[in-house]
Amino acid sequence: MDKFVQLIKAGEVVAFPTETVYGLGADAWNASAIKKVFDIKGRPSDNPLIVHISNREMIAEFAEDVSEEAEQLIEAFWPGPLTLIFNKKPAVLDLITAGLPTVALRWPDNELALQFINQTGPLVAPSANSSGRPSPTKTAHIKDDFGEDFPIIDGGETNIGLESTVLDVSEKPFRIYRPGAIGQKEIEAVADVSTELSTGVSGTRKAKSPGTKYSHYSPEAKVRWLKSEEKPDSSKTLYLFHHTDPGMVSDHIIFYRNNYDAMAKELYDRFRQADLKQLDAIAVEPFPADLLEEMSIAKALENRIQKAMG
Ligand code: TXA
Ligand code: MG
Repeated sequence: MDKFVQLIKAGEVVAFPTETVYGLGADAWNASAIKKVFDIKGRPSDNPLIVHISNREMIAEFAEDVSEEAEQLIEAFWPGPLTLIFNKKPAVLDLITAGLPTVALRWPDNELALQFINQTGPLVAPSANSSGRPSPTKTAHIKDDFGEDFPIIDGGETNIGLESTVLDVSEKPFRIYRPGAIGQKEIEAVADVSTELSTGVSGTRKAKSPGTKYSHYSPEAKVRWLKSEEKPDSSKTLYLFHHTDPGMVSDHIIFYRNNYDAMAKELYDRFRQADLKQLDAIAVEPFPADLLEEMSIAKALENRIQKAMG
Protein backbone atom coordinates (compact mmCIF):
# COMPACT_ATOMS: atom_id res chain seq x y z
CA MET A 1 0.00 0.00 0.00
CA ASP A 2 2.84 2.43 0.88
CA LYS A 3 4.27 2.42 -2.60
CA PHE A 4 0.85 3.32 -4.08
CA VAL A 5 0.38 6.14 -1.56
CA GLN A 6 3.80 7.51 -2.55
CA LEU A 7 2.84 7.40 -6.24
CA ILE A 8 -0.30 9.49 -5.56
CA LYS A 9 1.73 11.97 -3.52
CA ALA A 10 4.18 12.22 -6.44
CA GLY A 11 1.28 13.21 -8.74
CA GLU A 12 0.90 9.81 -10.41
CA VAL A 13 -2.20 7.75 -11.18
CA VAL A 14 -3.06 4.44 -9.43
CA ALA A 15 -5.93 2.01 -10.03
CA PHE A 16 -7.75 0.85 -6.88
CA PRO A 17 -10.75 -1.34 -6.08
CA THR A 18 -14.14 -0.09 -4.91
CA GLU A 19 -17.28 -2.11 -4.21
CA THR A 20 -18.64 -1.22 -7.67
CA VAL A 21 -15.79 -1.24 -10.22
CA TYR A 22 -12.10 -0.31 -10.15
CA GLY A 23 -11.27 3.41 -10.17
CA LEU A 24 -8.36 5.31 -11.70
CA GLY A 25 -7.25 7.50 -8.80
CA ALA A 26 -5.37 10.79 -8.66
CA ASP A 27 -4.94 13.52 -6.02
CA ALA A 28 -8.06 15.72 -6.21
CA TRP A 29 -5.97 18.82 -5.43
CA ASN A 30 -3.28 18.23 -8.07
CA ALA A 31 -4.26 19.57 -11.52
CA SER A 32 -1.45 17.88 -13.43
CA ALA A 33 -2.27 14.50 -11.84
CA ILE A 34 -5.93 14.95 -12.84
CA LYS A 35 -4.88 15.78 -16.43
CA LYS A 36 -3.05 12.45 -16.52
CA VAL A 37 -6.31 10.66 -15.68
CA PHE A 38 -8.04 12.23 -18.70
CA ASP A 39 -5.03 11.41 -20.92
CA ILE A 40 -4.67 7.79 -19.82
CA LYS A 41 -8.39 7.10 -20.35
CA GLY A 42 -8.75 9.17 -23.49
CA ARG A 43 -11.67 10.84 -21.73
CA PRO A 44 -13.27 14.00 -23.15
CA SER A 45 -12.47 16.96 -20.87
CA ASP A 46 -16.15 17.98 -20.65
CA ASN A 47 -17.01 14.81 -18.69
CA PRO A 48 -16.57 15.54 -14.95
CA LEU A 49 -15.01 13.20 -12.37
CA ILE A 50 -16.24 11.83 -9.04
CA VAL A 51 -14.22 12.78 -5.94
CA HIS A 52 -13.76 9.77 -3.63
CA ILE A 53 -13.66 10.49 0.08
CA SER A 54 -13.35 8.53 3.32
CA ASN A 55 -14.63 10.81 6.10
CA ARG A 56 -17.00 13.68 6.88
CA GLU A 57 -14.35 16.41 6.87
CA MET A 58 -13.75 15.65 3.20
CA ILE A 59 -17.43 16.31 2.42
CA ALA A 60 -17.07 19.85 3.73
CA GLU A 61 -13.86 20.32 1.74
CA PHE A 62 -15.79 20.00 -1.56
CA ALA A 63 -19.55 20.40 -1.02
CA GLU A 64 -21.73 23.38 -0.20
CA ASP A 65 -25.43 23.58 0.76
CA VAL A 66 -25.81 20.00 2.02
CA SER A 67 -29.58 19.76 2.61
CA GLU A 68 -31.24 17.86 5.40
CA GLU A 69 -32.50 15.28 2.91
CA ALA A 70 -29.00 14.82 1.51
CA GLU A 71 -27.79 14.31 5.10
CA GLN A 72 -30.35 11.53 5.50
CA LEU A 73 -28.93 9.81 2.42
CA ILE A 74 -25.35 10.19 3.64
CA GLU A 75 -26.34 8.73 6.98
CA ALA A 76 -28.14 5.77 5.38
CA PHE A 77 -25.94 4.91 2.40
CA TRP A 78 -22.33 6.09 2.96
CA PRO A 79 -20.00 4.34 2.68
CA GLY A 80 -21.79 2.72 -0.27
CA PRO A 81 -22.52 2.71 -4.02
CA LEU A 82 -24.22 6.11 -4.17
CA THR A 83 -22.61 9.20 -5.72
CA LEU A 84 -24.12 12.51 -4.63
CA ILE A 85 -23.89 15.75 -6.60
CA PHE A 86 -23.69 18.97 -4.55
CA ASN A 87 -23.00 22.62 -5.23
CA LYS A 88 -19.23 22.89 -5.18
CA LYS A 89 -16.92 24.93 -2.96
CA PRO A 90 -15.23 27.70 -5.02
CA ALA A 91 -11.76 26.15 -4.60
CA VAL A 92 -12.69 22.84 -6.28
CA LEU A 93 -10.67 22.52 -9.50
CA ASP A 94 -12.61 23.16 -12.73
CA LEU A 95 -10.82 20.20 -14.27
CA ILE A 96 -12.78 17.90 -11.94
CA THR A 97 -16.19 19.43 -12.56
CA ALA A 98 -15.69 20.30 -16.25
CA GLY A 99 -16.68 23.83 -15.37
CA LEU A 100 -20.02 22.85 -13.79
CA PRO A 101 -21.11 24.60 -10.56
CA THR A 102 -21.54 21.16 -8.94
CA VAL A 103 -19.24 18.37 -7.73
CA ALA A 104 -19.87 14.62 -7.44
CA LEU A 105 -18.80 12.91 -4.19
CA ARG A 106 -18.65 9.25 -3.28
CA TRP A 107 -17.57 7.43 -0.11
CA PRO A 108 -16.83 3.89 -1.32
CA ASP A 109 -17.54 0.79 0.76
CA ASN A 110 -14.31 -1.10 0.23
CA GLU A 111 -11.66 -1.63 2.91
CA LEU A 112 -8.65 -1.18 0.59
CA ALA A 113 -10.14 1.96 -0.97
CA LEU A 114 -10.78 3.48 2.47
CA GLN A 115 -7.27 2.66 3.75
CA PHE A 116 -5.85 4.19 0.59
CA ILE A 117 -7.89 7.42 0.70
CA ASN A 118 -7.20 7.81 4.42
CA GLN A 119 -3.52 8.03 3.54
CA THR A 120 -3.66 9.98 0.26
CA GLY A 121 -6.55 12.36 0.90
CA PRO A 122 -9.46 12.79 -1.55
CA LEU A 123 -9.00 11.15 -4.96
CA VAL A 124 -10.71 11.81 -8.26
CA ALA A 125 -11.49 8.45 -9.83
CA PRO A 126 -13.35 7.59 -13.00
CA SER A 127 -13.77 3.90 -13.78
CA ALA A 128 -10.33 2.45 -14.65
CA ASN A 129 -11.05 1.56 -18.29
CA SER A 130 -10.10 3.28 -21.54
CA SER A 131 -12.97 5.46 -22.71
CA GLY A 132 -15.55 3.38 -24.57
CA ARG A 133 -14.57 0.06 -22.95
CA PRO A 134 -16.61 -1.68 -20.22
CA SER A 135 -15.70 -0.68 -16.65
CA PRO A 136 -13.16 -3.01 -15.01
CA THR A 137 -14.27 -5.48 -12.36
CA LYS A 138 -10.98 -7.42 -12.28
CA THR A 139 -7.31 -6.41 -12.41
CA ALA A 140 -6.94 -8.30 -15.72
CA HIS A 141 -9.36 -5.82 -17.33
CA ILE A 142 -7.17 -2.89 -16.31
CA LYS A 143 -4.04 -4.61 -17.62
CA ASP A 144 -5.82 -5.25 -20.92
CA ASP A 145 -6.53 -1.53 -21.28
CA PHE A 146 -3.40 0.05 -19.77
CA GLY A 147 -0.68 -2.64 -19.87
CA GLU A 148 0.81 -5.27 -17.58
CA ASP A 149 2.88 -2.81 -15.56
CA PHE A 150 0.14 -0.36 -14.67
CA PRO A 151 0.06 0.32 -10.88
CA ILE A 152 -3.00 -1.45 -9.42
CA ILE A 153 -4.05 -2.12 -5.84
CA ASP A 154 -5.31 -5.69 -6.16
CA GLY A 155 -8.63 -6.21 -4.41
CA GLY A 156 -9.76 -9.22 -6.44
CA GLU A 157 -13.11 -9.14 -8.22
CA THR A 158 -15.33 -6.19 -7.28
CA ASN A 159 -18.49 -6.90 -5.36
CA ILE A 160 -21.30 -5.22 -7.27
CA GLY A 161 -19.87 -5.02 -10.78
CA LEU A 162 -21.88 -1.98 -12.00
CA GLU A 163 -21.03 1.67 -11.29
CA SER A 164 -22.60 3.66 -8.46
CA THR A 165 -25.96 5.38 -8.64
CA VAL A 166 -25.42 9.06 -9.54
CA LEU A 167 -27.94 11.30 -7.75
CA ASP A 168 -28.09 15.09 -8.04
CA VAL A 169 -29.03 16.50 -4.64
CA SER A 170 -28.15 20.11 -5.51
CA GLU A 171 -31.77 20.83 -6.51
CA LYS A 172 -35.21 19.42 -5.76
CA PRO A 173 -36.58 17.12 -6.97
CA PHE A 174 -33.43 15.03 -6.68
CA ARG A 175 -32.44 13.54 -10.04
CA ILE A 176 -30.98 10.11 -10.77
CA TYR A 177 -28.56 10.51 -13.71
CA ARG A 178 -27.27 6.96 -13.52
CA PRO A 179 -29.25 4.09 -11.93
CA GLY A 180 -27.29 1.69 -9.71
CA ALA A 181 -27.62 -0.79 -6.88
CA ILE A 182 -29.30 1.88 -4.74
CA GLY A 183 -32.46 2.91 -6.60
CA GLN A 184 -35.36 5.33 -6.46
CA LYS A 185 -37.25 3.11 -3.98
CA GLU A 186 -34.38 2.89 -1.50
CA ILE A 187 -33.70 6.63 -1.80
CA GLU A 188 -37.31 7.71 -1.29
CA ALA A 189 -37.65 5.32 1.67
CA VAL A 190 -34.89 7.21 3.48
CA ALA A 191 -35.16 10.85 2.39
CA ASP A 192 -38.36 12.85 2.48
CA VAL A 193 -38.02 14.09 -1.09
CA SER A 194 -39.21 13.06 -4.53
CA THR A 195 -36.74 11.82 -7.12
CA GLU A 196 -36.87 11.74 -10.89
CA LEU A 197 -35.07 9.52 -13.29
CA SER A 198 -33.11 11.61 -15.79
CA THR A 199 -30.77 9.29 -17.67
CA GLY A 200 -30.80 10.70 -21.19
CA VAL A 201 -30.28 13.92 -23.06
CA SER A 202 -33.82 14.96 -23.79
CA GLY A 203 -34.93 17.57 -26.28
CA THR A 204 -32.82 20.68 -26.47
CA ARG A 205 -31.98 20.76 -22.77
CA LYS A 206 -28.27 20.61 -22.18
CA ALA A 207 -27.08 17.39 -20.57
CA LYS A 208 -26.93 17.99 -16.83
CA SER A 209 -24.76 14.93 -16.42
CA PRO A 210 -22.36 15.01 -19.35
CA GLY A 211 -21.52 11.31 -18.95
CA THR A 212 -25.02 10.29 -20.03
CA LYS A 213 -24.43 11.50 -23.59
CA TYR A 214 -21.44 9.25 -24.27
CA SER A 215 -21.87 5.65 -25.25
CA HIS A 216 -19.86 3.84 -22.59
CA TYR A 217 -19.51 0.19 -21.84
CA SER A 218 -19.46 -0.88 -25.47
CA PRO A 219 -18.06 -4.23 -26.45
CA GLU A 220 -17.18 -4.88 -30.10
CA ALA A 221 -19.86 -7.57 -30.33
CA LYS A 222 -23.29 -6.20 -31.19
CA VAL A 223 -25.47 -6.11 -28.07
CA ARG A 224 -29.21 -6.67 -28.66
CA TRP A 225 -32.36 -7.82 -26.89
CA LEU A 226 -33.41 -11.40 -27.41
CA LYS A 227 -36.58 -11.62 -29.52
CA SER A 228 -39.61 -13.31 -28.02
CA GLU A 229 -39.62 -17.04 -28.82
CA GLU A 230 -36.03 -16.77 -30.09
CA LYS A 231 -33.98 -19.89 -29.31
CA PRO A 232 -30.20 -19.85 -28.95
CA ASP A 233 -28.94 -21.17 -32.27
CA SER A 234 -25.67 -19.42 -33.07
CA SER A 235 -22.27 -20.33 -31.68
CA LYS A 236 -21.10 -16.78 -32.51
CA THR A 237 -23.61 -15.24 -30.10
CA LEU A 238 -23.47 -15.05 -26.30
CA TYR A 239 -26.97 -15.55 -24.85
CA LEU A 240 -27.79 -14.13 -21.42
CA PHE A 241 -31.00 -15.37 -19.80
CA HIS A 242 -32.04 -14.23 -16.32
CA HIS A 243 -35.64 -15.37 -15.85
CA THR A 244 -36.67 -17.79 -18.59
CA ASP A 245 -34.98 -21.19 -18.51
CA PRO A 246 -33.30 -21.66 -21.90
CA GLY A 247 -33.49 -25.44 -21.40
CA MET A 248 -29.75 -25.84 -21.79
CA VAL A 249 -26.64 -24.01 -20.67
CA SER A 250 -23.13 -23.89 -22.11
CA ASP A 251 -20.19 -21.49 -22.14
CA HIS A 252 -22.22 -19.21 -24.41
CA ILE A 253 -25.73 -19.84 -23.09
CA ILE A 254 -25.91 -18.45 -19.55
CA PHE A 255 -28.87 -18.68 -17.19
CA TYR A 256 -28.88 -16.56 -14.00
CA ARG A 257 -32.06 -18.04 -12.41
CA ASN A 258 -33.29 -14.61 -11.21
CA ASN A 259 -29.99 -13.92 -9.49
CA TYR A 260 -29.61 -10.32 -10.66
CA ASP A 261 -26.72 -9.59 -8.30
CA ALA A 262 -24.74 -12.39 -9.96
CA MET A 263 -25.62 -11.05 -13.41
CA ALA A 264 -24.52 -7.52 -12.44
CA LYS A 265 -21.26 -8.80 -11.03
CA GLU A 266 -20.39 -10.63 -14.26
CA LEU A 267 -21.84 -8.43 -16.99
CA TYR A 268 -18.74 -6.43 -17.92
CA ASP A 269 -16.52 -9.51 -17.79
CA ARG A 270 -18.97 -11.25 -20.14
CA PHE A 271 -18.75 -8.27 -22.50
CA ARG A 272 -14.96 -8.40 -22.50
CA GLN A 273 -14.89 -12.20 -22.89
CA ALA A 274 -17.21 -11.97 -25.90
CA ASP A 275 -14.70 -9.70 -27.58
CA LEU A 276 -11.74 -11.91 -26.73
CA LYS A 277 -13.64 -14.81 -28.30
CA GLN A 278 -14.53 -12.57 -31.26
CA LEU A 279 -18.24 -13.28 -30.98
CA ASP A 280 -20.58 -11.40 -33.32
CA ALA A 281 -23.35 -10.63 -30.86
CA ILE A 282 -24.61 -10.65 -27.29
CA ALA A 283 -28.35 -11.32 -26.98
CA VAL A 284 -29.94 -10.51 -23.62
CA GLU A 285 -33.39 -11.54 -22.39
CA PRO A 286 -35.44 -8.31 -22.03
CA PHE A 287 -36.44 -7.14 -18.54
CA PRO A 288 -40.18 -6.99 -17.79
CA ALA A 289 -41.52 -3.62 -16.55
CA ASP A 290 -42.61 -4.90 -13.13
CA LEU A 291 -39.13 -6.26 -12.43
CA LEU A 292 -37.57 -2.90 -13.34
CA GLU A 293 -39.94 -1.18 -10.91
CA GLU A 294 -39.21 -3.61 -8.14
CA MET A 295 -35.51 -4.27 -8.32
CA SER A 296 -32.94 -1.51 -8.52
CA ILE A 297 -30.14 -3.75 -9.71
CA ALA A 298 -32.32 -4.94 -12.63
CA LYS A 299 -32.92 -1.31 -13.58
CA ALA A 300 -29.16 -0.67 -13.47
CA LEU A 301 -28.50 -3.76 -15.60
CA GLU A 302 -31.05 -2.68 -18.19
CA ASN A 303 -29.52 0.80 -18.33
CA ARG A 304 -25.99 -0.52 -18.95
CA ILE A 305 -27.16 -3.04 -21.54
CA GLN A 306 -29.18 -0.36 -23.31
CA LYS A 307 -26.09 1.90 -23.32
CA ALA A 308 -23.96 -0.89 -24.73
CA MET A 309 -26.38 -1.02 -27.67
CA GLY A 310 -25.29 2.55 -28.51
O1 TXA B 1 -18.97 3.34 -9.16
C1 TXA B 1 -18.47 4.39 -9.61
O2 TXA B 1 -19.07 5.48 -9.56
C2 TXA B 1 -17.06 4.29 -10.22
C3 TXA B 1 -16.08 3.94 -9.10
C4 TXA B 1 -14.65 3.97 -9.58
O3 TXA B 1 -16.28 4.80 -8.02
N1 TXA B 1 -16.72 5.53 -10.87
C5 TXA B 1 -17.29 5.92 -12.05
O4 TXA B 1 -16.79 7.12 -12.54
O5 TXA B 1 -18.14 5.27 -12.61
P1 TXA B 1 -17.04 7.61 -14.05
O6 TXA B 1 -16.17 8.80 -14.20
O7 TXA B 1 -16.79 6.47 -14.97
O8 TXA B 1 -18.53 8.06 -14.06
C6 TXA B 1 -18.93 9.25 -13.37
C7 TXA B 1 -20.24 9.76 -13.88
C8 TXA B 1 -20.13 10.31 -15.28
O9 TXA B 1 -21.28 9.91 -16.01
C9 TXA B 1 -20.12 11.83 -15.07
O10 TXA B 1 -20.63 12.53 -16.18
C10 TXA B 1 -20.99 11.97 -13.85
O11 TXA B 1 -20.67 10.85 -13.04
N2 TXA B 1 -20.67 13.21 -13.10
C11 TXA B 1 -19.55 13.51 -12.41
N3 TXA B 1 -19.61 14.74 -11.89
C12 TXA B 1 -20.80 15.26 -12.23
C13 TXA B 1 -21.46 16.51 -11.99
N4 TXA B 1 -20.90 17.49 -11.29
N5 TXA B 1 -22.71 16.68 -12.52
C14 TXA B 1 -23.30 15.69 -13.22
N6 TXA B 1 -22.73 14.49 -13.48
C15 TXA B 1 -21.50 14.27 -13.00
MG1 MG C 1 -16.80 5.22 -16.56
